Amino acid sequence: MTEQSPVTQTNATHVAKSPDAQVVTAVRHYTDSLFSFRVTRPASLRFRSGEFVMIGLMGDNGKPLMRAYSIASPNWDEELEFYSIKVADGPLTSRLQHIQEGDHIILRPKPVGTLVHDALVPGKRLWLFSTGTGFAPFASLLRDPETFEKFEQVIVTHTCRDVAELTYGRELVESVKSDEMLRELIGEENLDKLVYYPTTTREESPKMGRITHLIENGELFSDLGLPPLDPATDRAMVCGSLAFNLDIKALLEQAGLREGANSDPAEFVIEKAFVG
Ligand SMILES: Cc1cc2nc3c(=O)[nH]c(=O)nc-3n(C[C@H](O)[C@H](O)[C@H](O)COP(=O)(O)OP(=O)(O)OC[C@H]3O[C@@H](n4cnc5c(N)ncnc54)[C@H](O)[C@@H]3O)c2cc1C
Ligand SMILES: NC(=O)c1ccc[n+]([C@@H]2O[C@H](COP(=O)([O-])OP(=O)(O)OC[C@H]3O[C@@H](n4cnc5c(N)ncnc54)[C@H](OP(=O)(O)O)[C@@H]3O)[C@@H](O)[C@H]2O)c1
Repeated sequence: MTEQSPVTQTNATHVAKSPDAQVVTAVRHYTDSLFSFRVTRPASLRFRSGEFVMIGLMGDNGKPLMRAYSIASPNWDEELEFYSIKVADGPLTSRLQHIQEGDHIILRPKPVGTLVHDALVPGKRLWLFSTGTGFAPFASLLRDPETFEKFEQVIVTHTCRDVAELTYGRELVESVKSDEMLRELIGEENLDKLVYYPTTTREESPKMGRITHLIENGELFSDLGLPPLDPATDRAMVCGSLAFNLDIKALLEQAGLREGANSDPAEFVIEKAFVG
């Protein structure tokens, strides 16, 4: 018999009985503060790529301990993928970081969110601006053929403190470009239309700096050979800390783009990658 993981011991008896229980099918650790995992997908769960759900574990008090998580997998995937922070003293992630294949988590199958195609008006170029785990909803959208059907060009920027924190995003973009099924879904002629722009702010890397700074000084556009943001052609989705979101929002509005919502689509949409 295999040894039970720490999560299983405290969680299994309660969670496995829950109608919202899902089984962990894979776990991968990137750094001491980042990991990704995959779980079974409820047969009834339909979602739009970019949306988030509530997931969690059973708390020590016997009550579910739930947090918002962007679904990182696309809507056609048979399983669900999540990309997670590990907060040392975080009520959920101090335990969630120990999950292993075969463990159960709780997943409330009610997807919501604003980082969806429906909240943007049609455009030519889609910018996906992310920091840290804010890349997660874009990991979903980048694997959704609709993203490439709707836009002539898709540029994803990811800014982290250190190089290792870029790994999940870099491998995701590489997998989109090399995976045979995704190539077919997206269309061979569209593969060069996916542009990846990673930057770091603390550890030395080929491109350094906050993306807000690189927008302000024009380096982002000169590096990519693209014109500045234009409300006639450019659309954007933003996901990072509150401070990051506010700073990018100001820059997008300065360029003449308006914030959209599911009920009122416009030129850009924003969602917090975490609260606090
Ligand atoms: C709409 C939405 C979507 C989210 N999607 C994701 C996701 O896909 N992946 C993910 O890891 N988290 C995501 N979060 C954050 C998540 O809900 C939890 O906050 C996180 O799992 C930590 O939970 P916790 O109970 O361990 O700590 P919490 O008590 O929730 O957080 C403790 C502190 O840790 C820091 N923190 C929390 N989450 C993050 C993070 N993601 N990145 C950096 N610092 C953080 C903050 O300073 C926070 O105050 C999302 C939050 C929102 C609102
Ligand atoms: N002590 C540590 O070593 C350590 C390491 C990782 C995380 N943490 C903690 O974990 C939490 C989240 O850390 P995180 O690194 O995932 O997220 P984060 O603090 O939001 O930083 C992620 C990336 O976004 C950049 N950024 C932050 N605010 C920005 C803004 N207003 N405009 C443009 N870019 C911005 C950061 O650049 P800058 O580097 O310039 O801020 C960094 O490259 C924080 O509360 C942090 O204290 C601590």
